[in-house]
Amino acid sequence: MKPKLLIAILILAYCVIPATAQTLRSPDGKFELNFKLSAAGEPTYNLSYKKRPVLNDSKMAFAIKDQPSFASHFTLVDSKTGTHDETWKPAWGEVSSIRDHYNELAVTLQQVSDKPGSSDSRKMTRRLVIRFRLFDDGLGFRYEFPVQDELKYFQLNEERTEFSLTGDHKAFWIPGCYDSQEFAYNTTKLSEIHAMKGKYVDLEADKKVFADNAVQTPLMLKSDDGLYINIHEAALTNYPAIYMMVDRDDFGLTTHLAPNAVGSAAFLQTPAKTPWRTVIVSDNAADILASKMILNLNEPTKIANTSWIKPQKFVGVWWEMHIGTGSWNYSDTNNVKIDEVDWKTLKPNGKHAATTANVKRYIDFAAANGIDGVLVEGWNVGWEDWYGNWKENVFDFVTPYPDFDVRELQRYAAAKKVKLIMHHETSASAANYERRIDEAFRFMKANGYDSVKTGYVGRIIPRGESHDGQTMVNHYSFVAETAAKYRIMIDSHESVRLTGLSRTYPNWLAAEAARGNEYNAWSVGNPPEHETILPFTRLMGGPMDYTPGIFEIKLNVYDPAKKEVVHTTLAKQLALYVTLYSPLQMAADLPQNYEKRMDAFQFIRDVAVDWDDTWIAEAEPGDYLTIARKAKGRLNWFIGAITDENSRVSTVPLDFLPADEKYAVTIYADAKDADWDKNPMAYTIESYIADSKTVLKLALAKGGGAAVSIRPATRTDLFRLKPYAP
Ligand code: NOJ
Ligand code: CA
Repeated sequence: MKPKLLIAILILAYCVIPATAQTLRSPDGKFELNFKLSAAGEPTYNLSYKKRPVLNDSKMAFAIKDQPSFASHFTLVDSKTGTHDETWKPAWGEVSSIRDHYNELAVTLQQVSDKPGSSDSRKMTRRLVIRFRLFDDGLGFRYEFPVQDELKYFQLNEERTEFSLTGDHKAFWIPGCYDSQEFAYNTTKLSEIHAMKGKYVDLEADKKVFADNAVQTPLMLKSDDGLYINIHEAALTNYPAIYMMVDRDDFGLTTHLAPNAVGSAAFLQTPAKTPWRTVIVSDNAADILASKMILNLNEPTKIANTSWIKPQKFVGVWWEMHIGTGSWNYSDTNNVKIDEVDWKTLKPNGKHAATTANVKRYIDFAAANGIDGVLVEGWNVGWEDWYGNWKENVFDFVTPYPDFDVRELQRYAAAKKVKLIMHHETSASAANYERRIDEAFRFMKANGYDSVKTGYVGRIIPRGESHDGQTMVNHYSFVAETAAKYRIMIDSHESVRLTGLSRTYPNWLAAEAARGNEYNAWSVGNPPEHETILPFTRLMGGPMDYTPGIFEIKLNVYDPAKKEVVHTTLAKQLALYVTLYSPLQMAADLPQNYEKRMDAFQFIRDVAVDWDDTWIAEAEPGDYLTIARKAKGRLNWFIGAITDENSRVSTVPLDFLPADEKYAVTIYADAKDADWDKNPMAYTIESYIADSKTVLKLALAKGGGAAVSIRPATRTDLFRLKPYAP
């Protein structure tokens, strides 16, 4: 649906301000931004919140290939301020309408320098616009390079935007890596990151960790005196992702750009603009999660009619491969070069999961339980040769294995009113995918698919590029745009982390781009605090396909030798459907595991994936999180409460419910003796009558959680259920 302007854009006061020092305040007056040129003509800004400094004087500079320094000797040639107040409706989201309200300051700077290589001291003049937007939840700013003679087509070697923090804050961070965000979070002081220079090593194949003192964004910080600060970027297009270097002695951060294959970072042609640099600040952690600033800094949708874009739940031929009981491969042959053998001659390995019969089993389960879709991985030839070879043409995205009957499954799924979701693992060969994408999308549409999960496991082709560089950033947008032409929805794995682009491309429903639940299947896993940090980090940029809903927590049930465990209780897996926002939620476990616990699965059946409103009831990064959400267009509410490795009692007043109405409240909780490590699958389910005066007390086990489903009470409920009493 086309976003509707509820309040027209107001450009109140555009006026020229000649002074060199500029002050901008947020609409509510809590934030103050000061911009000035230093004595050396360096662009410099600082930021305060409720009169408390957030960022001390911070400089802004660029290194442009084969050009003089673009850091100082600027003069201010123009300055404009404005204000904007608009309310828009996202195609889907945590809330059904979003207010975009900010005050703006745009400064035009000019620098005159000696022209390199000219013997007669000729001068060159270059201009830069810095646009600041101050919202009630924080600051966004970007750089614009207007059309000009000395900057027409150029390469950026680096952007050096400083964020001069005021102290040795606590940071929730993952190390700098151009190819992956799939790390567990570290929680340390900034000084500890600083002291780590050259020491942090977490090299896994395919992950070029350059760690040193670099960390990724969204970076979540907390000051000793209780200020929460989130630093990220919005609208990352045609530019590399940023990292934060923690290499200054005074706790200042400086941006660093993902490099490209030719030793610079970005190729730009004027007019050009960078993504927005974002600083969201509050003295209340819940406000950080409630901020919609990153979405607001993105361009409105490019898709005129969004009615075909549907938030959805899905199951999939997926977890069985991750736990090792099934395979993506059709055959057991190792080191097969798919382009050198006739794959039809390969012998089936007996474990291939994407068979017609197995997929029908998932379709039956989805149909019986109101689940919209079924993802199928390992359906197409190439998996014998997909990993580690850095090969260009492994997958063609249109050739199924012989035991996967595309036509029959199309017929079967349609008859059961279930949508199949295609999987396009590209093995990071973006070049191959771009060449084949139209054929691949036409194949999808011809066979009844309108959603695709893409994947970029491995080293990027074009070789020398990385997952987070400009070339790949452009690739992900190209895929989203091309998919939109075919009315296809996207869930991207191993793509760059999100920056709010779903406002522009609402068919890009979710991404992984962080360490998902899959790590619990085959690695040391995700520590119990992991899901309390993700909303403050990765999810600040947009929805994550975390793949929650694992009920069989100890994986040695499949194989006594298997040591891996999911580091949560079962009840916490339910709570994640509310606390880890995504319009695309997988019920990731096997149908047979759900069938054993249909009472708990009822929550997954019921929970919504699109929302009218969201209340962050309690939040502390790394510790706990409680969120209540109202289902879009319905009178149902859902609550998720999670904790880290410590047990706790979550207190949730239901004062968001309309007064004087009675509700049936079903609580899926950890049993008294539950514990993620010792007794993860012990849960209780109880139903009560409640109203807006009720205050729920939810006891969360170590590594535990609670999920609550709320709906208007029927007469039978009023007769059958007791009033809630903690
Ligand atoms: C990694 C993805 O995150 C996972 O979901 C997928 O199953 C594998 N790659 C195979 O493509
Ligand atoms: Ca992954």
